[in-house]
Amino acid sequence: MDRIRIIGGQPLNGVIPISGAKNAALPLTIASLLSSETLTLKNVPNLADVNLLTRILRNHGVDLSVDGKRAGSNGYLGETFHLTARDIVDTTAPYDMVSRMRASFWVLGPLLGRCGEAKVSLPGGCAIGTRPVDLHLMGLEALGADIRIDNGYVLAKAPGGLKGARVIFPKVSVGATHNVLMAAVLAKGETVLENAAREPEIGDLATCLNKMGARIEGIGTSTLHIQGVTNLEGATHTVLPDRIETGTFAMAVAATGGEVLLKDTSIDLLESAINILIEAGVEITPEEGGIRVRQMNGGPSPVSVETQPFPGFPTDLQAQLMALMTRAEGTSTIRETIFENRFMHVQELARLGADIQLNGELATIRGRTQLKGAEVMATDLRASVSLVIAGLVAEGETTISRVYHLDRGFERLEEKLRNCGASIERLAG
Ligand code: UD1
Repeated sequence: MDRIRIIGGQPLNGVIPISGAKNAALPLTIASLLSSETLTLKNVPNLADVNLLTRILRNHGVDLSVDGKRAGSNGYLGETFHLTARDIVDTTAPYDMVSRMRASFWVLGPLLGRCGEAKVSLPGGCAIGTRPVDLHLMGLEALGADIRIDNGYVLAKAPGGLKGARVIFPKVSVGATHNVLMAAVLAKGETVLENAAREPEIGDLATCLNKMGARIEGIGTSTLHIQGVTNLEGATHTVLPDRIETGTFAMAVAATGGEVLLKDTSIDLLESAINILIEAGVEITPEEGGIRVRQMNGGPSPVSVETQPFPGFPTDLQAQLMALMTRAEGTSTIRETIFENRFMHVQELARLGADIQLNGELATIRGRTQLKGAEVMATDLRASVSLVIAGLVAEGETTISRVYHLDRGFERLEEKLRNCGASIERLAG
C-alpha cells in the first residue's frame, strides 16, 4: 500500500489549480442514467471514487468515452466524459460495488424513475458513522415507490411510474436530496422537496438536469419544485470547482505560511465557511479566475465552530480546520454535528503532538503546538488530508499510510503541493 512522506517546515508559494468537485461529479455522472441521449460532462476530476462509479454505471448499460487529461499528462483541466445510457441493461447495483462507495446508492432514484424498478444494495457500514438511508427511502416511497428490504438489498418498484408528491425531509441530507430529486424529474406531476439540502453540488446537479429538459425551480433554496417530464435529453455541463479542495489548500497555506493563488475556483462557493477561515487566520483575496490566500499577519487564531449543513461550516472541512487550530495561540472548539464518528483524525494528530481533548461531539484544541513528525494512518478521506496539513507544519518527517483514502477525493495532491515548494512524495509499496 502506498504511503506519503512529508518533511515539514516549508511555506507554500505558487499556484494551485482547483479540480472539479468530487461531490458534484458523482451525482452528475449518475444523472446520465436518466436519458437515452449523451450527457457530456466537462472538468471531471480524475479520482478513485469517480472511476469506481463509472464501473458501476457501465454495469447498468452506460457507455462512457473519455477525452481530455490522461494520467501522467501535465495539463490540469479535468477530463470530459461522454455518457450514454441508450438502454438500461441491468437495474441491479450489487453489494461488492455499492459497499465500496456510498454515493453509488444514488443510482436508486434515477433507475426507478426511468425503468420503474431497481435493486440496489444497502451501502453498509462506513468509517465516519452509521449513515442510514431512511430519508432516501422515505422520499421515494412518497413518490409512490413500493420498497422492500431483502437480503441486504433495497427492492424498489413503481410499475405505473412515480407520481409527484410533497416530501418534507425531517433532516437535511445531501444524498437523499440528490436521490429523490433525480427520481422526481421523471415522475408524473409536481414534486415539492422541502428542507432539501442546499449544497452548491445540489444546485449543480439541478442546473444540469434542467439543461437535460427537467423543470426544477428553487435551485439554491431549501424548497425545490419539480414538474415531472416524460423524458430527458442530452446536454453538456461543466462540473463546478471543488469548494472542499479550495478550503483545504487555503487552510494548508494559513498553517505553513507563504502565498498561493488557488486557480479556477470561486470565493462564493465557500459561503459561511469563509468567515471561519478568515477568523482562523486565512487572508483571502478574490482575483480574476481564482482566489489568493496567505497566512494572516500574526498567524492562525483560535475559533469556535460547529459543523452544519450548507450554508454552515462544512463537516468536510472539519478535520483540516483542526489541524490548522493546532497552530493557533489559544483554545479552539469544534463541534461535529453531522456525523457521530468523524473524529478519528484526533488520535493521529495526537501522535504528532497535538493537544486535543474529545468529549462526545466536541473537540477542544489547545495551541499553539509545535507538531513533530511521526508515522500516522489515514482513516477516511477528509481525515487523511488533515494529516497532510499537519505533516506540512510538523518538524521532521511524517509518513502517512493508507493513502488510498486521499486518492478517493484529492486529485494530484502531492504534485500540487510539491509545485508550491512542499517536500512531499509518494512511496509505492
Ligand atoms: C454527503 C457528501 C459528504 C458530506 C455529507 C454532509 C457526497 C458524495 N458526500 O454525504 O462528503 O460529508 O454530504 O455534507 O456528496 N442521514 C440519515 N438518513 C438518511 C441520510 C442521511 O439519518 O437517509 C444522516 C446522516 O447519517 C448524517 C446526516 O444525515 O448524519 C447528513 O448526511 P448526508 O447529507 O446524507 O451525507 P451524504 O449524502 O452521505
